[in-house]
Amino acid sequence: MNKMYDVVVIGSGPAGYVAAIKSSQLGLKTLCIEESVNSKGSINFGGTCLNVGCIPSKALLDSSHRYHEANKNLSGHGINISELKLDLNAMMQRKDKIVNKLTDGITGLFIANKVESKPGRGRVIGKNKVELLRTDGTIEEIETQNIIIATGSSPIEIPSAKFGTNIVNSTEALSFNEVPKTLGIVGAGIIGLELGSVWSRLGSNVTVLEALDTFLPMTDNDIAKESLIEFRKQGLNIKLNSKLISSKDHKNKVKVKYITEEDEIEEVFDKLIVAVGRKPNSTNIISDKLDLKIEDGFIVVNDHCQTSINNIWAIGDVVRGPMLAHKGSEEGIMVAERIAKKQTQVNYDLVPSVIYSHPEIAWVGKNEKELCEEGVEFKVGKFPFAASGRALAVDQPTGFVKVLSDSRNDTILGVHVFGPAAAEIVQQALISMEFGASSEDISLTMFSHPTVSEAFHEAALAVNNQAIHIGNKSR
Ligand code: FAD
Ligand code: NAI
Repeated sequence: MNKMYDVVVIGSGPAGYVAAIKSSQLGLKTLCIEESVNSKGSINFGGTCLNVGCIPSKALLDSSHRYHEANKNLSGHGINISELKLDLNAMMQRKDKIVNKLTDGITGLFIANKVESKPGRGRVIGKNKVELLRTDGTIEEIETQNIIIATGSSPIEIPSAKFGTNIVNSTEALSFNEVPKTLGIVGAGIIGLELGSVWSRLGSNVTVLEALDTFLPMTDNDIAKESLIEFRKQGLNIKLNSKLISSKDHKNKVKVKYITEEDEIEEVFDKLIVAVGRKPNSTNIISDKLDLKIEDGFIVVNDHCQTSINNIWAIGDVVRGPMLAHKGSEEGIMVAERIAKKQTQVNYDLVPSVIYSHPEIAWVGKNEKELCEEGVEFKVGKFPFAASGRALAVDQPTGFVKVLSDSRNDTILGVHVFGPAAAEIVQQALISMEFGASSEDISLTMFSHPTVSEAFHEAALAVNNQAIHIGNKSR
């Protein structure tokens, strides 16, 4: 039996490592257990996000965007490149370098913040006891006052597309060693669109099969409509209402069968990426002897991420709510502070979402459909980037900003952006919403000129028919 910790965190993704650092900063004796180790036996900190998620995907999105711009979009600026060559190996090395820098950075943060770490698989075997299974098969039992489960999630595998050499998930799709000539993607969700964009820009002929007949049902309706047109214009062949029936490796390619409303179609791709969602990692994490509730694979927690056993907490992708890094990190901070007897909460009404396509899609708060369903009366202000001087100057006039505010008191209820720097604009909106801003508050705020953020200012003005750079509804 080992010395007693205040907190043992299982998992070092953005939920777990942040919870561990915060716990230690609050004076709690903290250990973080992580099962992912590299060939030298040291821990790969950072979970999905740093290793095979947010960071490598954004590195490739940036590189592929630069390549695409150089290849297709610079001549209008008077820049002609005669011999452009793609060095995919160098692009992958750049991505890996960024990942290594950030994962190594967590090692440094743990040392600086006095967080202990141990490699191995963690399992909760008692109210105050965690079992650590090391790679050499040895087991250690660790005693602790509190346990934070932050074991994350994994890609879903479906019976019609079993992972194999050329049928892959997002992890492999971040490391292809050549550009597939033809690429099939199952699922037009966030991963399908981001990774589809990467490989399409690098030269793949990309087909995306989406089972639903609606595109991006979680986004604002107008954004879903406009972005579908834009993605198709960019070369993503998005087929809605297309259900995969089977796929199999065939002569170093993948033979795929799917049904649409009218037909059963057979197609052959060089690679098939399956991106139909992720499932929580909750199997074999908790001993059956403990009365800890799990529903549909998610560990059941209250609004404070406390499980049915009051000193055992769970955060991040392994619990309800959107599977997003920032949501997990904020839960990590909340739980650490609650263990330290503070009253911190997460505002689940204001979790921002971003799809890092080009242009970006981002939103926070409610959309029109949700407000209608809730019977809330609201006003809408919309401003197109085509009317923004800066958006035109930077060659990104597609899309718009939409502000929704409460008809009764003008409080902003949702902001939806499709266009340049959408993620950053939504962050501004989110800060103002945290302070309960009205669209008039934003209208009375001065924005630098020329910035794409001015479109947010104008959309807020448009809520009350006061926009300057577009015609208003009722005058
Ligand atoms: P994870 O990051 O999954 O970390 C869990 C950790 O726990 C892992 O390191 C795992 O090895 C470890 N673990 C599991 N079981 C055990 C055990 N029994 N013992 C010890 N260790 C264990 N989100 C965003 O917000 N923005 C993005 O841009 C974004 N891009 C993404 C792109 C891709 C391709 C993918 C796949 C995901 C992306 N996400 C993004 C989602 C984001 O990665 C996750 O929401 C986030 O990583 C969840 O954090 P977590 O800490 O809960 O879990
Ligand atoms: P997703 O839930 O975003 O999309 C999955 C899509 O697949 C849906 O449109 C669904 O209708 C479709 N689908 C499901 N089964 C299907 C089938 N059998 N055939 C065809 N289509 C099918 O899931 P995705 O893209 O795998 O991403 C997982 C999660 O990772 C996201 O929900 C998000 O939480 C996170 N993520 C976040 C990113 C970001 O914040 N920018 C980037 C990438 C991932």
